[in-house]
Amino acid sequence: MAKKDNVLKDMQGDLPAYKGDPNLIPNQSFAKTNGPAFSKVVEARRSIRVYDGKRIPESTVKLCLKEATLAPSSSNLQPYQVYWLKSDEIKKAGAYACLKQPAATTAGELFAIVMRGDLWKQNLNKLVDIMTESGKTELSPSVKSYYRSLIPKIMSNDPLGIQNMMRRIGFTLAGLKGPIVRTPVNRGDHRVWGHVQAALVAENLMLSLTAHGYDTCPMGGFDEARIKKLLKLPAKAEVTMMISAGNRKPEGLYGPRYRLDSDDLIKII
Ligand SMILES: Cc1cc2nc3c(=O)[nH]c(=O)nc-3n(C[C@H](O)[C@H](O)[C@H](O)COP(=O)(O)O)c2cc1C
Repeated sequence: MAKKDNVLKDMQGDLPAYKGDPNLIPNQSFAKTNGPAFSKVVEARRSIRVYDGKRIPESTVKLCLKEATLAPSSSNLQPYQVYWLKSDEIKKAGAYACLKQPAATTAGELFAIVMRGDLWKQNLNKLVDIMTESGKTELSPSVKSYYRSLIPKIMSNDPLGIQNMMRRIGFTLAGLKGPIVRTPVNRGDHRVWGHVQAALVAENLMLSLTAHGYDTCPMGGFDEARIKKLLKLPAKAEVTMMISAGNRKPEGLYGPRYRLDSDDLIKII
């Protein structure tokens, strides 16, 4: 990548300063009010496998879904969709595709977190449209270069892989001169990239539901082909995870929470 294209280092440089809501700036007074509550939410989230089957009020589900989409995403491209399997019929079919796990069959609600890396270009155009108020304002030069030049270079894929190979060689050569982002370059990288964003949304959704008083269970045990058919998803969409939610029955908590030793999981260097 030519040096002039490296817009990441000064991407915000020519934007007017935006200070945001002063009540939403993490600092010590924010921590005093919100830290203990957040710690409790994180502690309270457990994977629950048996629910009482009662539905969650629609307004709560909608709020939690909205909060889920506040998860960060790479270049803000938001390459995911969250499906709420709201109708009884679809929910039942979804639970069947989750291998009839009790975590799905007894749930009040069922969600599919879908990776939509294939929508990157569409999302990019929508995002630029929002940022420019449908063309009424201009993107700053560095942001424009980022979204119109760098991102398409990184995200595009050719079926034969020739462009991808050239890109990998280009990144390797450029990397000899200094730090450079080296992935994604191929379809596999793009899939990982998309699932990363979708997983962040999944965790936000579970924590939000917990904070609003409901239990959840993430599920990787599902028949992806059946879920895709049920949700009428295109071939390139992939289901990252299913999530069930509702009110736990006491027997729905299968046991204590086990974690590996912190020394195995956390490395301080
Ligand atoms: C991606 C993913 C897939 C999972 N799949 C299932 C599943 O299919 N069925 C299930 O009962 N639990 C599933 N779990 C839940 C894990 O078993 C659970 O998170 C783990 O045992 C830790 O327990 P905790 O969530 O209560 O802290 C899954 C969790 C994740 C993150």
